[in-house]
Amino acid sequence: MTRSDLLKRLAGKTAIVTAAGQGIGRAIAERLAEEGALVHASDLDAGLLSGLDAASAEKLDATDHAAVKTYFDRFERIDVLVHAVGYVHQGTIEECSPKDWQRSVDITLTSAYNVLGAAVSKMKANGGSIVTIGSVASSTKGFPKRAAYGAAKGGVIGLTKAMAADYIKEGIRCNSICPGTVSSPSLQQRIEDLAQTMGSKEDAYRFFIDRQPAGRFGTPEEIAAFCAFLVSDEGSFVNGQAINVDGGITI
Ligand SMILES: NC(=O)c1ccc[n+]([C@@H]2O[C@H](COP(=O)([O-])OP(=O)(O)OC[C@H]3O[C@@H](n4cnc5c(N)ncnc54)[C@H](O)[C@@H]3O)[C@@H](O)[C@H]2O)c1
Repeated sequence: MTRSDLLKRLAGKTAIVTAAGQGIGRAIAERLAEEGALVHASDLDAGLLSGLDAASAEKLDATDHAAVKTYFDRFERIDVLVHAVGYVHQGTIEECSPKDWQRSVDITLTSAYNVLGAAVSKMKANGGSIVTIGSVASSTKGFPKRAAYGAAKGGVIGLTKAMAADYIKEGIRCNSICPGTVSSPSLQQRIEDLAQTMGSKEDAYRFFIDRQPAGRFGTPEEIAAFCAFLVSDEGSFVNGQAINVDGGITI
């Protein structure tokens, strides 16, 4: 018997997943579909969505307030929303230009304002579950060279908790999953970029792996498995939490 025979916890649910083209977002879209949800996937890069088993898969720039509103207008009912859009600027505050700062806030935090704001009205009648992909690099823990990223992800956690308080009476749960370092295309790029300043790819890889007490990176599938539990009825008493799924980085 396969896992999908055992778990159909989201049968009959409509789920929206942003940044579903690669990495954590894609693994979540695939897992929610496997669990029986009707998944509507989007990403800034529509080409990355090809091959995804989804009810719809299309381009959406989550930083574009008007485009996000138009995208959500078509849904009568949303049961699950997973917002996975984020961008990592690597640098201290001195290495972060006003442009870097604005880009970080726009992609990571303003996108959450746009998407969660557009989706919540579609959940009010029947309740639902919202998950933001936060990070342990946030209000949870400080990491070197994560000034703008940590600030923006701290904002995502704050927004998620505020919404949990605002909508608990309407049966809408809002939680943030905060991963440790997870192997994804953008992590590979960050290792390449850091190698330029550190001198070698080995040193850059060490910079990341040394943060992980488990001695390895997480996988997108490990984050997706936890997300599927959280948005399903099995997670029904978890609300307003920022939950670290981090291989022990915050022990
Ligand atoms: N990988 C990690 O180690 C890690 C750790 C903690 C948190 N996170 C968070 O998890 C999420 C996914 O990260 P990842 O590393 O798995 O994926 P990734 O960075 O490899 O991919 C990000 C995806 O987001 C899309 N995207 C970028 N800007 C967008 C926009 N404006 N609108 C819509 N889509 C946009 C990209 O096209 C891409 O498909 C992010 O929020 C990230 O900050 C990642």
